Amino acid sequence: MIRSPVLVDLDRLLGELDSLACFSDAPSPAVTRIVFTPADRAARSFLLERFWEAGLEVRQDAIGNFFARWEGLEPGLPAVATGSHIDAIPYAGRYDGTVGVLGGLEAIRALRASGFRPRRPVELIMFTAEEPTRFGVGCLGSRALSGALDPNTLARLRDADGRTLDEVRREAGYTAPLESVVKRPGAYAAFVELHIEQGPHLERSGVPIGIVEAIAAPAGLRVWLEGPGGHAGTVPMHERHDPLLSGARIALGVEAAVLQEGSEDTVGTVGVFDVHPGAINSIPRRVRLEIDVRDVDENRRDRVLARIRAAIHEAAGERGVHHRIEELYRDGPARSDAALLEAIEATCLELGIPFLRMKSRAYHDTVFMARLCPVAMIFIPCREGLSHCPEEYASPENIAWGVRVLAGTLARLASRGPWRGSRSP
Ligand code: GLV
Ligand code: MN
Ligand code: MN
Repeated sequence: MIRSPVLVDLDRLLGELDSLACFSDAPSPAVTRIVFTPADRAARSFLLERFWEAGLEVRQDAIGNFFARWEGLEPGLPAVATGSHIDAIPYAGRYDGTVGVLGGLEAIRALRASGFRPRRPVELIMFTAEEPTRFGVGCLGSRALSGALDPNTLARLRDADGRTLDEVRREAGYTAPLESVVKRPGAYAAFVELHIEQGPHLERSGVPIGIVEAIAAPAGLRVWLEGPGGHAGTVPMHERHDPLLSGARIALGVEAAVLQEGSEDTVGTVGVFDVHPGAINSIPRRVRLEIDVRDVDENRRDRVLARIRAAIHEAAGERGVHHRIEELYRDGPARSDAALLEAIEATCLELGIPFLRMKSRAYHDTVFMARLCPVAMIFIPCREGLSHCPEEYASPENIAWGVRVLAGTLARLASRGPWRGSRSP
């Protein structure tokens, strides 16, 4: 039972969000925080201090996930968990992920201050590298935790400088075997992630809370195109094998493959188009494209992927360009657990806060936590739906509502004994 109203210290939370935003490799208001860079490592130390200050026991695993635990009256019961990530893509904003980590911390502090004693342990998780920026694959921490990616493949992932994940995590002080990261299904009773929506739906609807029923299934391809290159002035047009032009055809092919489905839920993006050697008087020799495709409907997503592959073969073939396709990830959608959705909804009703049920078009660590336990997400609006850019903004009021709803939901779930859910322990 919560004995007194949960009071969120909004000033403290906003101050912490501001402080965290300072650990960045881009000038403010942009935030760039790539996993295991000095900025990320400094942000980790900042976070660790906040967790200790709050009186939580903290454990770090071999890939750098943080687990900050508030022990329950029955410590043997699987914990109710919350959390998110603090890494940020280049020139991002300050709220993506951080609201779920620092907001999760504030929810726990507020519950403690209210006199609430959880029956089950409550655990706050900071996941390593939700963003794919450095190693091409997102959700590294939660992927590893859930066993979705085997430790050998994980260890051998390379960044753009050719450094392996194994090397850089060791350098950051994480030296235990990667095998030790994996948790068994049932290790948690539930996982609930608080996050900004990263889209415009809530703001346009004028509703402060979104309850996420499903998360879109993302897939990523890396395409290498290679030709002989040559002098931009001397090689006749009809003798060229220009990989950039094949790449341009592929980019348009991605758009066409997506639009053919005629569904708002289907999206595809070429976010990387890298040209080597990148000189005005040199015919491109090597091109790298990275393509992201998502849908809540996995079959539809896979149909689009097949069309994109065909477009790549065709675009490379017609110009005699050599091509290679690497599948970076192909994940399934995650569905929220009915009992958790009800717990969030009951909390909103109790607080008198409007909510709506929705889908997440962005992916989150929750996708992988769904392999371990029942999951759900709480969304708050962000201005004009902007995210992954410096203009990203969530209002203090909405952040406070998100934390209150999270605190109430954690309290409900942590008060329960074993419960009958679709996949409850
Ligand atoms: C996560 O950041 C995503 O790309 O959806
Ligand atoms: Mn993100
Ligand atoms: Mn995020």
